[in-house]
Amino acid sequence: MTKTRIILDTDPGADDALTILLMLASPEISLEGITTVHGNVPLEKTTRNALALLEFFDRKDIPVARGCSLPLIKAPHVENDNVHGTSGLGRTNLPEPTLQPVAAHAVDYLIQRFLAEPKELTLFAIGPLTNVALAIRQEPKFAEAIKEMVIMGGAIRSGGNMTPLAEFNIYEDPHAAHVVFNAGIPITLVPLDATYQCLLSSADVERLNRIDSPIPKFIRDVTADYMEFYLKYEGFSGCALHDPLTLAAIIAPQLLTLESHYVNVDISGGVSEGKTYADFMKVTKRPANMRVALDVKGREFVELFLERIEKFCAANAPTR
Ligand code: RIB
Ligand code: CA
Repeated sequence: MTKTRIILDTDPGADDALTILLMLASPEISLEGITTVHGNVPLEKTTRNALALLEFFDRKDIPVARGCSLPLIKAPHVENDNVHGTSGLGRTNLPEPTLQPVAAHAVDYLIQRFLAEPKELTLFAIGPLTNVALAIRQEPKFAEAIKEMVIMGGAIRSGGNMTPLAEFNIYEDPHAAHVVFNAGIPITLVPLDATYQCLLSSADVERLNRIDSPIPKFIRDVTADYMEFYLKYEGFSGCALHDPLTLAAIIAPQLLTLESHYVNVDISGGVSEGKTYADFMKVTKRPANMRVALDVKGREFVELFLERIEKFCAANAPTR
């Protein structure tokens, strides 16, 4: 099987952590590098979390490059730690990592990796798009070197989760998203329209915890604050697998309803700042610039997630 070779730009983040785990548990994927960005928690924490996760998952071979701590133009939001916990990884208590990030800044690292192997690497972006936008602006050849980009972000027909209209990753840096959406990169966008249909329930987490492995306990701890937030503010017992659903584009595309549309983001600075919109009626006469996952077989994806984690735990059972 030819593996999809991935560089992941991320702001871990509970669901980011589950995405890294699912990548490592999926034989179709080769995770070859991580770049960190501000987002769920400040950059120091997202970088520390990425390093700590790779040590916990016993994958210290995967390099991490530290990225941007601020959006391109907007002021950073007040640390919104109530969804992912103060650390950004819920109630886990991973040891301080011994791993260090590489010396290169994430923007330079992205440029180096993609120009070294043009059209060979897939870029997954599951946090604000600041690093990617700067790489596009710094190196004119960067965008064309990307084989494909898969982005968790946006709300097309769905309401937003940061404002009534805007989704977190895009809202945090709408100007970066505008640069990325209009750079000519082959993009698959996975917005809230699909991700809110993929709810991991507490019963699902308990099913995993019947396995004798530290990983299910990690999943319970990393999602604890996330689940509490959803119950308190959104009224359901579970958490949306926002970031992990991006992987369906590679491991289970049949579960996604993908449509090609011209999509852009509002940067006019008003009430709809960060709103992503699709030109369904083709009134702009602009060609489609991305595929958008407007629907998903949500429960089937959650079952796939659970099966992959169960297999991964069995294959990596702790030696007694
Ligand atoms: O809106 C969901 C997105 O915001 C996910 O990437 C989550 O990790 C947060 O960053
Ligand atoms: Ca994220």
